[in-house]
Amino acid sequence: MATKNKNDKPTDKNADGEERQVKQESLLEKFFHDQLKDIYYAEQQLLKALEEMKNASTTEELEDAFDNHRTQTERHLKRLEKVFRLLGKPAEGKKCEAMDGIIKEGQSIIKETKEGTMTRDAALIIAAQKAEHYEIATYGGLVQLAITLGKRQAAGLLDKTLQEEEETDSLLTDIAEQHINIEAEEEGYGADVSTKNLAQAPAY
Ligand SMILES: [Fe+2]
Ligand SMILES: [Fe+2]
Repeated sequence: MATKNKNDKPTDKNADGEERQVKQESLLEKFFHDQLKDIYYAEQQLLKALEEMKNASTTEELEDAFDNHRTQTERHLKRLEKVFRLLGKPAEGKKCEAMDGIIKEGQSIIKETKEGTMTRDAALIIAAQKAEHYEIATYGGLVQLAITLGKRQAAGLLDKTLQEEEETDSLLTDIAEQHINIEAEEEGYGADVSTKNLAQAPAY
């Protein structure tokens, strides 16, 4: 039966009655493992969502950006599997309500914006950046936890992904600022807005 020694480390007795230390996860290690499962699930869901977002894009530029990030996301999953292996744990996900919500919001944005418009792309960029920021927050925290726990190799792998997420985020900002937002603004009320509707539009 596990008992506590002076250092509060769980111990066990072997066949000769000698105490030996039991390899048990600390509370922080458990939390770290739990957060890995969270991001593993989030990346899996994002992989599917990026395909939907790519298909809903107006410009080829945004399509390509989503396509590239899809390939990157596959790599992020592989890296996470490596981290699980380093921990001696099976790679498994745990439902992440936050990413599910962000993806749901992205799906509503697709429904609420007109196909073939630049406004659709401007909106998709914001939806994608919300997902990126969730990933950045999670990987940022995981890197710090891995360092604290002395898991250097895991920290290095997680940091690589963190950097790619940050690059994707700023790439999306660049695409938006360089022309998509401007062209979306120039669309005005859209081609199918009648003069009658324009007359009723609020005056700013
Ligand atoms: Fe990712
Ligand atoms: Fe990402």
